Amino acid sequence: MEYTNFMSDRVKTMKGSAIREMFKRMADPEIISLAGGNPAAELFPGEELSKIAGKILMTSPTLALQYGTTDGYPAMRECARQRAAKVNSVTDDDAILIMTGANQGIDLTAKAILNKGDKIVVESPSFIGSLNAFRTYEAELVGVTVEDDGMSMEGLEEVLKSDSSIKIIYTIPTFQNPTGTTMSLAKRKRMLELASKYDVLILEDNPYGDLRFSGEDLPTLKSLDTEGRVIYAGSFSKILSPGMRLGYLVAPKPLAEKIEVLKQVNDVHTPMLTQLMCVEFMKKYNIDDYIAKNRDLYGKKCACMVENMEKYFPEGKVKWVVPEGGIFLWCECPTITDISPVVDRCLEKKVAIVPGSNFAIDINAPSNMFRLNYSSATLEKIEEGIKRLGEALTEML
Ligand SMILES: Cc1ncc(COP(=O)(O)O)c(C=O)c1O
Repeated sequence: MEYTNFMSDRVKTMKGSAIREMFKRMADPEIISLAGGNPAAELFPGEELSKIAGKILMTSPTLALQYGTTDGYPAMRECARQRAAKVNSVTDDDAILIMTGANQGIDLTAKAILNKGDKIVVESPSFIGSLNAFRTYEAELVGVTVEDDGMSMEGLEEVLKSDSSIKIIYTIPTFQNPTGTTMSLAKRKRMLELASKYDVLILEDNPYGDLRFSGEDLPTLKSLDTEGRVIYAGSFSKILSPGMRLGYLVAPKPLAEKIEVLKQVNDVHTPMLTQLMCVEFMKKYNIDDYIAKNRDLYGKKCACMVENMEKYFPEGKVKWVVPEGGIFLWCECPTITDISPVVDRCLEKKVAIVPGSNFAIDINAPSNMFRLNYSSATLEKIEEGIKRLGEALTEML
C-alpha cells in the first residue's frame, strides 16, 4: 500500500529530528551520547517525586485523574508565575498558560500567528523542534546568523527592512540551542528597538536561563519590553524533569486567549498529575536549591568537556566558544565543508554527536559544525567520549 498520496502537502516532505533518529540507533549501551539534550538524570528527585505522586493519588485521586482546565491548574499557574516573575515583569496585561512542555507553547504560538507562506525570523542555527513546528505551518524560515554574542542585529535589521510582512522573531537569547551563546544586553535592547520600529512580535524561548554557572545574569527580553511585544516561553524540563512535560507561556491576554483555544483542540490540558506533583514539589522543597545543584554539576561537566577537548582535539582544527551556562557546546571545523563523515566515523567509534545541518534552515546543506551536550553523560563518559571524538577528528581533518 502506498500512503504518500493520502498525506497532506504539509507533512509529505517533513523529516523527523535526526537526533531522535539517532536515539533509536543508540540502544547500543556502548555508545556514549554527547548528542541529545537530556538533563542530568543522576539529579532527578525521583524519591521525593515518587512520595509526592503516591500521596496525591491517595488523597486527591479525583483532582489528579479528572479533566482539568485548559489554561492549567491554578496553583501550577502560580508556580509558573513565580518562576517567570524571577526574571520578568509579569503584568496584568499578561496571561499565564500551562503548556505540555515549552515545545507546545512554541508550536501553538506559531499556529496562532503564522499563515501559510508567512515569514518568521529565526536564529541560524536554531532549535530543531521549533524550526519543525514553524515548518508544519508552512511558514518560510528567514535565518539570521548567530554571532558569539547572539543574533546579528545588522542581519536582523536588513531582513526586517526588506519585508514589511514579517510578523514575528523567534529567539533563544540565553544559552542558545545549539550554539550555547548568550545575547548581549546591547543586542537585547536593540532587538526590542527593531521590533518596535518594524512592528513585529518576539517569541522568547528561555528553557536554559536558570542554568548559568559563570558570568552575570542578563535581563530577559520580556523584562525589557515596554510595549507588550514579547511572548515568553518557559519550561520546567531543564530545572525539574522533562518527562513531566511542564512548560508555560507568558503572553499578552488577547493572544493567550487564542492560544488557549488551540490548546483545547490540541490536548485539552496538560496532565493534572504532573502539574500537581510540581506544585507539591515546589511547596515542600526549595526548587532553587535543586536548580543550584544542576548548575554546579553542569559547570563541572562543561569544564571537564572543554579540558578534554583541549587535550584530545587536533590543534587549530576546531573552534568553539566556552558557554557560561546551559547544556550545549558548539564546534566549527574551518578546514572542512561537511562534518557528516566525521559523525559517521564517531558512530563507528561508539560516540554520538549531532551535525550542524540539523539546526540549519536548509537541512540539506552541508555543515562543518557540530553540537556537543555535556549535561547527560557522566564525567568519565565525557572524557572517554571526547577522547574518541578527538581520535575521529584527528583521523579525518
Ligand atoms: C531551545 C529549546 N526550546 C524548547 C525546548 C522544549 O522544551 P520542553 O521540554 O519544555 O518542551 C527545548 C528542549 O530541548 C529547547 O532546547
